[in-house]
Amino acid sequence: MLVRALADDSYGGGAISVVSDLTLGVDRDALVPHAHRARHTPAVITRADARIRATALLREARDDTAALDADLLLAHLCGVVKEQLYGHLDVALTPAEEAAYRELVARRARGEPVAYLRGYKEFFGLRLTVDRRALIPRPETEVLVESALAFIRRTGRALVADVGTGSGAIAIALAVTEPRVRVIATDVSAAALALARANAEAHGVAARVDLRQGDLLAPLDRAVDVVTANLPYLPDAMVERWSRERTSLAFEPREAVVAGPDGLDVIRRCLAQLPGKLAAGGAIFLECDPPQAEAVAALARGAVGGAVRVVPDLSGAPRVVVGERA
Ligand SMILES: C[S@@+](CC[C@H](N)C(=O)[O-])C[C@H]1O[C@@H](n2cnc3c(N)ncnc32)[C@H](O)[C@@H]1O
Repeated sequence: MLVRALADDSYGGGAISVVSDLTLGVDRDALVPHAHRARHTPAVITRADARIRATALLREARDDTAALDADLLLAHLCGVVKEQLYGHLDVALTPAEEAAYRELVARRARGEPVAYLRGYKEFFGLRLTVDRRALIPRPETEVLVESALAFIRRTGRALVADVGTGSGAIAIALAVTEPRVRVIATDVSAAALALARANAEAHGVAARVDLRQGDLLAPLDRAVDVVTANLPYLPDAMVERWSRERTSLAFEPREAVVAGPDGLDVIRRCLAQLPGKLAAGGAIFLECDPPQAEAVAALARGAVGGAVRVVPDLSGAPRVVVGERA
């Protein structure tokens, strides 16, 4: 199928007759009419040509955001933002750039997320380094950060535990935005913690983000004011299915997403560990899958013994369960 996208393309003044693999038209002879082949200089591939080809390839690979992804990867390669790319589309790619772009597009066609290909993801206005050591932070999680920040500012309670910190997204966003915040950030994955450390250092908050390896709240040696937790919450069967399909889950760490038959195993265990770890007057902020919101709210009610509410995400779906201890 990928081959057909190229074969249909007639860029360069001659029909493509020889296409053997996923390529951005590097079979240059195929782009030049027969009569000129003996004395032709290599065909020049401009940014405009390259992005048209890449978009076609990604569409063939059933990438729902083919045009956007083609542009993001090309802009990344050229060291510009996407908008700057559009003003300079007639610039030729060097052979090295062309080869690098071909490689990036081929990886994207196999389903690898753009964030891993570029090596970063914007979260809460911060550029975080991301790679296969940790889950890519999602925009929905910004709602959890906003809710926790509102609580911290209202109450002045600023000692936070971020459980399952991954890339450090939540912990770093809180620490950067609110200078009073100190965070103990835990994760079972040493690899994820190394990534979180690099991100905390890059954003100048390493001194206020204390990274500890261990199970959920177990690494805490004192009660905190706030617990933030975007823990694994997908049922095993769902992860199995999505990992076989061309979704980012196939590339993200399994332990970051999978959570037992009903997707609640990890949240349940976290809430069971809460007594003694959340100070009186403190609050827990738990991200969940919208269909689980009621079940998570019921679990939280049992664990905190105080008021529980659910905060919607930007699409209006119930996303963050907030439990305040009396
Ligand atoms: C869904 S990811 C979220 C990462 C990050 N908080 C974010 O929002 O982008 C869940 C994280 O929890 C960690 N994790 C899974 N089980 C854990 C456990 N029992 N104790 C601590 N961390 C755990 C995973 O390694 C992963 O980094």
